[in-house]
Amino acid sequence: MRGTSSFLIVANRLPVDRVGEKQWRRSPGGLVTAIAPVMQRRDGAWLGWTGAAGEELKPFDHDGMHLIPVPLSSMEVEFYYEGFSNATLWPLYHDVVAPPIYSRVLWDAYRAVNDRFARAAADAAAPGAVVWVQDYQLQLVPSMLRKLRPDVKIGFFLHIPFPPGELFMQLPWRVELLEGLLGADLVGFQRPGGASNFVRLCRKMLGVSTVKNDIQLDNGRTVRAEAYPISVDFGELDQLVRESHVMARAKEIRAELGDPEHVLLGVDRLDYTKGIRARLKAYGELFAEGRLKPGEAVFVQVATPTRERVEEYIRLRNDIELQVGRINGEYGEIGRAPITYMHQSFGREELAALYCAADVMMVTPLRDGMNLVAKEYVACRHDLRGALVLSEFAGAADELKQAYLVNPYDVDGMKRTMMAAMQAPPHELGRRMRSLRRRVATHDVDRWANEFLTALES
Ligand code: ADP
Ligand code: G6P
Repeated sequence: MRGTSSFLIVANRLPVDRVGEKQWRRSPGGLVTAIAPVMQRRDGAWLGWTGAAGEELKPFDHDGMHLIPVPLSSMEVEFYYEGFSNATLWPLYHDVVAPPIYSRVLWDAYRAVNDRFARAAADAAAPGAVVWVQDYQLQLVPSMLRKLRPDVKIGFFLHIPFPPGELFMQLPWRVELLEGLLGADLVGFQRPGGASNFVRLCRKMLGVSTVKNDIQLDNGRTVRAEAYPISVDFGELDQLVRESHVMARAKEIRAELGDPEHVLLGVDRLDYTKGIRARLKAYGELFAEGRLKPGEAVFVQVATPTRERVEEYIRLRNDIELQVGRINGEYGEIGRAPITYMHQSFGREELAALYCAADVMMVTPLRDGMNLVAKEYVACRHDLRGALVLSEFAGAADELKQAYLVNPYDVDGMKRTMMAAMQAPPHELGRRMRSLRRRVATHDVDRWANEFLTALES
């Protein structure tokens, strides 16, 4: 049997998450931020999990997208999603900033769920369809799908970093994962380094020959590995922040914070790769040393709940909440807390207003595939004010060279850079922001998707 979708996105998650019986809300994370606008402008279907265990739903339409749910049992949520995806691959691919767990039980679940996604994609794809598989949770899908449907074009994009060989080689299932990816016609990475790590590993582990970024397989097929840095919907954000109610809300936020001289902002999923601990440590030390005074600066840290049953995430939440309490307890005054911490998700408009209210945007991950928050901040600052402090270890640092770049492991360096960003004269901020905006405006998410899909189809 053949399906009817000539364009298919296959991702672990659907763009919406279940809240209560009948309501949906946008799923967390950068993948959805980037792919949703691309999908809304094309005909096709999105195949993925609803975020709830044991739920079997029929395909449905939502917000201009056709969605095809793939069910996961509660055991699969534990072993495939929380386990192999987020306790094995996620830490390993992010420079082992937390120790990865290697377990055969988790691997078996990963393989079984990838097989289910491949079968669902094979059923939904029309003859000759373009199928675009997303991210680390589904690295076996390209080869599984190719076996079932040799007629379709298969693209794969990895949203997170692809690690250097020395780390990847730890994986007991390294050969299977490389072979899984080689089922695709085109494998996309965030940075050129990810693509070359992958090509080198294929040569070394599988003995295939390669010419630049082309991998030549024994069966005569060629697979291309290339970098396509992902981006945001610049136009949509740029328009949104020009609306009077968003501008008014930004002013209101500053007033609610007590109109401090400096508002610093962090917006992240509460993930140990995001460098929240070191960022708050640096900020706290500025108070301890008297370089900042209560009432003079407020740090707003928005931390979206994420992967809340995975051990490392439970530990991180406890650490951060203790740290926030300590800094506020030691350096705050009545009505003047140095940190406003929120463990919540916000709507797009509130987030945009927060970006406009912030003088200094702190994006300091220890490792990040791209980091779309950095690009969203830039897209929201048509007033050319505001400073972006950006980790050298985020993919975005390749493009956003006029940001205040920092090494997130260097607490003193971060303190110096935060002070420099707070004290920079308006003409300096304007010069940097103008150049950052030029980059994001001309390299938005539509360009990213068009470049990838054109290369895939050619
Ligand atoms: P990741 O994909 O690792 O979460 P990114 O920075 O690439 O990191 O993407 C995060 C996305 O999630 C951005 O689009 C950002 O706006 C959104 N986001 C992060 N925190 C929140 C929050 N508290 N409320 C709503 N959206 C959020
Ligand atoms: C990152 C990953 C995505 C993931 C998102 C949210 O952006 O690259 O694949 O969907 O984080 O994480 P979650 O585990 O909630 O899907």
